[in-house]
Amino acid sequence: MGYRRKDHYYRKAKEEGYLSRAAYKFREINQKVRIVSPGDRVVDVGCAPGGWSQVLLKVVGRNGFVVGIDILPVCRVRGENFAFLHMDVEDPECPEKVLSLTRGPVDAVVSDAAPNTTGVKHVDHARSVALVDAVLTFAIRVLREGGNFLAKVFDGPETKELEEKMRKKFRKVRRIRPGATRKESFEVYLTGIGFVGGGSEGEGERD
Ligand SMILES: C[S@@+](CC[C@H](N)C(=O)[O-])C[C@H]1O[C@@H](n2cnc3c(N)ncnc32)[C@H](O)[C@@H]1O
Repeated sequence: MGYRRKDHYYRKAKEEGYLSRAAYKFREINQKVRIVSPGDRVVDVGCAPGGWSQVLLKVVGRNGFVVGIDILPVCRVRGENFAFLHMDVEDPECPEKVLSLTRGPVDAVVSDAAPNTTGVKHVDHARSVALVDAVLTFAIRVLREGGNFLAKVFDGPETKELEEKMRKKFRKVRRIRPGATRKESFEVYLTGIGFVGGGSEGEGERD
């Protein structure tokens, strides 16, 4: 069953010209919870090879703008309203670089970023949570008030803490597992709607 599903989305992506089967996950999530709308300025964290960015460009249209970020230099998306930053989202200069490209705060930050996996579930979970935490810190620096957030996390006991942290920053937080996700995968997507503003994020907030 898992393999049939994989074949289905893999073939579909090939046929429809998407750079990854992950493109369908974003499409489905955005249909369930409106994260990105036409005309938006969006940051796609962990964008390579570029499936999500392709879908994002279609959603935002001619009046929108997408910045893709990845530590790998292999993003294959091109376009007038697309810019690629070959960078680590944890780099302290990343928010400033993005804001200079978008000329102001952005409407949404979406992240399909994933750490290198070890196959040891609790290790991969902990690394993934740390990465989402870093993406959230980045998002708090670049989002406009009312903006939206989406991030993939390898699910486990610490996901709850992450959701609690998000609840302090967004009006509504949800967890979604798209149909295009492989059955054996333990990834889930966390959505945050309606950023309430930066305030004093970070130090001391974990307690
Ligand atoms: C599953 S892939 C993303 C696939 C993409 N959404 C698509 O549809 O083509 C995860 C990506 O996250 C990137 N990544 C992992 N850690 C990162 C970090 N700290 N900063 C930026 N990108 C990162 C990886 O290099 C990898 O390309």
